[in-house]
Amino acid sequence: MRKAVFGSAIGGALVLLALTLGAQKRSAGPESVPYPEGYRSWTHVKTAILHPGHPLYEAFGGIHHVYANEKAAAVLRRGGNRFPDGSILVFDLLESPTQDNATGEGARKVLAVMVKDSKRFPATGGWGYAAFKGGDKRQQIVKDMVQECHNCHAGQAQHDYVFSQWRK
Ligand code: HEC
Repeated sequence: MRKAVFGSAIGGALVLLALTLGAQKRSAGPESVPYPEGYRSWTHVKTAILHPGHPLYEAFGGIHHVYANEKAAAVLRRGGNRFPDGSILVFDLLESPTQDNATGEGARKVLAVMVKDSKRFPATGGWGYAAFKGGDKRQQIVKDMVQECHNCHAGQAQHDYVFSQWRK
């Protein structure tokens, strides 16, 4: 009896391990999100500036522009809330120095990207998240898409995890 319980516990553990490995295999990581070549010519969706004192200043302080490729922009323009595979959104974060009473753009801090591929990223609502330090395509810095990105975007589940909306 003891042996049987022990045996089934091992069996259960093996099944769990197999499932975990299987899930990991299906769900790709941030390294498989490509740098968004050409995004500066995509549709500009919006711009915002986060000043010191904003709760997200530490991570997102500065001026950011949001861009959408054609697939994603089409959804935003019609106020849709389901993005098809192949949609890409970019969060381009720059420093925002103020001089002579004018605030402008400074050095790029980070280029954050969301790519929709429901087969590769099932664990994060179909979105793959990545961030390139200083906009350098060789310096992808996200290690855990869920912890670092998706948990916060999860609040926008009703809008397919996307915050930005189209202004007329
Ligand atoms: C603490 C919350 C939070 C975290 C963590 C976060 N984001 Fe966001 N993200 C936002 C908000 C809020 C916006 C909308 C900004 C705006 O409206 O100007 C946004 C916008 C974006 C956009 C533009 C599309 C959209 O949803 O509006 C992308 C791309 C993006 N984030 C990628 C990332 C990536 C990659 C990570 C992980 C490195 C990440 N985000 C982590 C809150 C977060």
